[in-house]
Amino acid sequence: MKMFDVYPLNNISITKAMGSWVWDANGQKYLDMYGGHAVISIGHTNPTYVGALTDQLNKIGFYSNSVIIEQQKELSEKLGALSGKEDYQLFLCNSGAEANENALKLASFYNNRSKIVAFKGAFHGRTSLAVAATDIPSIIAPVNQTDDIVFLPYNDVDALKAYFAEHGKDISSVIVEGIQGVGGIILATDEFLKAIRQVCDESGALYIADSVQCGCGRSGKYYSHDWAGVNADIYAMAKGIGNGFPMGAISIAPHIAPKYGMLGTTFGGNHLACRAAIAVADVMAQENLIENTTTIGNYLMEELKKIEGIKEIRGKGLMIAIEMPYDSSELRKKLLFEEHVFVGAAGKNIIRLLPALNITKEHADTFLDAFKKVLA
Ligand SMILES: Cc1ncc(COP(=O)(O)O)c(C=O)c1O
Repeated sequence: MKMFDVYPLNNISITKAMGSWVWDANGQKYLDMYGGHAVISIGHTNPTYVGALTDQLNKIGFYSNSVIIEQQKELSEKLGALSGKEDYQLFLCNSGAEANENALKLASFYNNRSKIVAFKGAFHGRTSLAVAATDIPSIIAPVNQTDDIVFLPYNDVDALKAYFAEHGKDISSVIVEGIQGVGGIILATDEFLKAIRQVCDESGALYIADSVQCGCGRSGKYYSHDWAGVNADIYAMAKGIGNGFPMGAISIAPHIAPKYGMLGTTFGGNHLACRAAIAVADVMAQENLIENTTTIGNYLMEELKKIEGIKEIRGKGLMIAIEMPYDSSELRKKLLFEEHVFVGAAGKNIIRLLPALNITKEHADTFLDAFKKVLA
């Protein structure tokens, strides 16, 4: 059997990693400014993380959600403290799409409605409702199509209010990224997120914050949405929460009551996954990584803004877009194969930086030197 060929691959096989460095099978070292797509939050093979997972594997790796899993309690307390939402409730699953899927479903159970507001440029995952709420027609199969989802323009308060004035009583939830990732690192304005809070309060809809990419501290706050100063009803997380261990989660406001059987999963919240996420939360707290995100993110953006020939630098914390006035794929190729630096992309012209949250100024300088070289 061969692999189902859906990924355009770089001809590189990674065999070893440490912190923000990875090595290929030939021993070539690369700087990882991509974090495996915003997943590596505390650095590759972090010793605390490896120690915790090894210890847990030697005890028990998995048992189902039919028994008490003490690690779930520890994790929910730690995530509550890190995010400043001690009174929220945690439900654990396995991926970002699944987190959004559960958030949308829970909102629908809560208010017994079926209409969803999503936004132009959104990406929420590839499973049924999550992909239906994603503004990329080419990845929506006929079976995913539904009339229940409407796409409004992102950051357009007037359009949002006008839509709610007419349809508010039918809307179950509004799902929004605090910073659109796949859409090109577009920040939601505070005014827009406050307006979402307001129309949801007025209509009985729930505000779902898709924090899968922009959450887990990457923006300099645990949830990037919280820069607006208003709470969401449900926050969806994945990527950075497990530093590579597949995990998703939703953090649910206290007014949403659980019921047995309402949500469920076989793998979500198992011993090993929880231990991974606890180690991530511990390292983030002990090493002040959310603060570091702002420090290094600001440094990177200030230095990038001094470089000529770039159309725009935007982002928050360690979620940064370098938008070129032309197709950036040659630049990315040169960064990878000549300077040995991994970066991400969004569309053709945008280079996306999503490094580990504990990168240092030295890593940032190595990247900046490499970037100047390929531009020259
Ligand atoms: C904002 C956002 N939501 C959801 C997802 C889907 O996450 P997953 O690939 O873990 O299902 C992604 C993945 O890139 C994402 O960026």
